[in-house]
Amino acid sequence: MTAVLDLAEDYVALNRGRDKKRATLRGLTQINLFFENSTRTQASFEIAGKRLGADVMNMSVRTSSMSKGETLLDTAATLNAMHPDLIVVRHQHSGAVALLSAKVDAAVINAGDGRHEHPTQALLDALTIRRRKGRLHRLTVAICGDVAHSRVARSNMILLGMMENRVRVVAPPTLLPPDIDRYGVEVFHDMEKGIEGADVVMMLRLQQERMEGAFVPSQREYFHRWGLDQQKLAHAAPDAIVMHPGPMNRGVEIDALVADDPARSVIGEQVEMGVAVRMAVLELLAGARERG
Ligand code: CP
Repeated sequence: MTAVLDLAEDYVALNRGRDKKRATLRGLTQINLFFENSTRTQASFEIAGKRLGADVMNMSVRTSSMSKGETLLDTAATLNAMHPDLIVVRHQHSGAVALLSAKVDAAVINAGDGRHEHPTQALLDALTIRRRKGRLHRLTVAICGDVAHSRVARSNMILLGMMENRVRVVAPPTLLPPDIDRYGVEVFHDMEKGIEGADVVMMLRLQQERMEGAFVPSQREYFHRWGLDQQKLAHAAPDAIVMHPGPMNRGVEIDALVADDPARSVIGEQVEMGVAVRMAVLELLAGARERG
């Protein structure tokens, strides 16, 4: 993991310069296959591949033959016959990306599968934390909000837990996954207690589209108890940073004044780190595949 972040650090510098292109992936073909909407992840994977010289194809799933009933596995076999080298996949079902990866020769990157995992998001969050805090261990990180439906939360609980951080989840009982105990995190049902002294406050989007008939609190009520405003943030460490993977629901899980606070919010930096981290991931995976 450190190797990914160290390489991404080089790409942060490259991306801030005038000449942003490298030929590292020249001759390789990258397909971006997004079955679910995305702004940050899809755009950053496209930019990352192009900056490294790959031929990048964004496949439009809505206008593909999947709309005529072609299955995921037949789609995978069809794309495989075109010999892509890298396939970036986002899918609404947990496990779909792993299933697809077993059917193709290309290196497959998980760009988010259902409520399961979003590994490159956790890597870009780790890079952002490391740059801002100077380390990625022995920090208190509070992950707050809709943990139950969040692949971002899962990937972050795994990564940050591996790095010996104190990871807390702060959520109403109805928005915690039933298997929360397996992550070795501390659980809080009170926002102020949960973020007390935290170095990092990571807010999550309330994912109403995944709630499938479950009780959905009113947005006003949710914001009152679980939304991060300046009053609640005052309980965190004085130099705490505020993160959010996006897209944000302002006034639901986060107040606009906190989201836009240049002294606290690193939300824009997370997006910037996304391009650098994805360049590093593409390069390392392409290299590993070449070495067999
Ligand atoms: N953080 C994230 O995955 O954002 P998108 O859904 O816009 O890609």
